[in-house]
Amino acid sequence: MIVFNNVTKKYGENVGLIDASVHIKSGDFVFLVGPSGAGKTTFIRLILKEIDPDKGRIVLAGRDITRVGRREIPDIRQKIGMVFQDFRLLEKKTVYENVAFAMEVLHKSRKEIRERVPYVLELVDIADKANRYPSELSAGEQQRVGIARALANKPRMLICDEPTGNLDPITAMDIMALLEQINIRGTTILMVTHAKDIVDKMNKRVVAIDHGHIVRDEEGSYGYARQNESDDLYIPGFTAFMDNPVKAATMQLDPDLAEAILGKTVARPDPVEYDVDSMLSAYLDGGEDIYE
Ligand SMILES: Nc1ncnc2c1ncn2[C@@H]1O[C@H](COP(=O)(O)OP(=O)(O)OP(=O)(O)O)[C@@H](O)[C@H]1O
Ligand SMILES: [Mg+2]
Repeated sequence: MIVFNNVTKKYGENVGLIDASVHIKSGDFVFLVGPSGAGKTTFIRLILKEIDPDKGRIVLAGRDITRVGRREIPDIRQKIGMVFQDFRLLEKKTVYENVAFAMEVLHKSRKEIRERVPYVLELVDIADKANRYPSELSAGEQQRVGIARALANKPRMLICDEPTGNLDPITAMDIMALLEQINIRGTTILMVTHAKDIVDKMNKRVVAIDHGHIVRDEEGSYGYARQNESDDLYIPGFTAFMDNPVKAATMQLDPDLAEAILGKTVARPDPVEYDVDSMLSAYLDGGEDIYE
């Protein structure tokens, strides 16, 4: 889905990226790690075509974006949802309006907005706060809104820049579980983070940058070694959602598995009330496939 082919970007004397080659396939979940000044933001800005490389090619969904014209830039950005560390919600708009606004700026029809906004709010489990203002929400709730907004225009990919940086550890894992479930349903995720504990727990692909060079690209942890299997007890959505049948349902948490591990009964979703399958397939069917 994204190919960096020997990409170099310098800012005068400063090194952004040097001869970087990375291939991110559709559906991947990739952590981008590295010390401050390593080139992570440069990597993201190149994907968004905010800057162009000095050398090399960047191919997004089969298109060489180093060669597309200005007029095609909005089209490229529309297919990428951004999630920020500081949420960047509009304080004077409600939760609903924040998400709707992301669609309005792209001139989506009122009908489409009316259908899509409640749907994404449900998906991130914040529908009950639709009419609240950001200042009335917890940090974790605000980030859920940030993710809902990023999903509003049916992107094929989410780029998350330190999405858990302003969250306490438990809320951070809650957000990670949500991102993981969004990924499982087909959205590619690229997440910049300094949070070693999160990277180690998630056991996903890690691309490490240092001084502009890609120094490592492998599955596993923030450090070099792969996780022990005994560390793999982390189950997405498990701790966060086990007590809430609606969340468990939308997060597709397996209640049998949860019970086996917990050694106690967990709440079961009511299949009549929550038509999870149709929710999920609507989400999956929602995206246009030009980025496959
Ligand atoms: N607009 C710019 N002009 C000049 N130098 C820049 C510019 N943007 C970035 N750089 C330099 O390029 C290098 C890579 O910066 P980049 O922002 O990609 O790092 P980063 O990995 O995102 O760091 P951080 O973790 O601190 O956000 C740094 O040395 C930085 O000073
Ligand atoms: Mg940065």
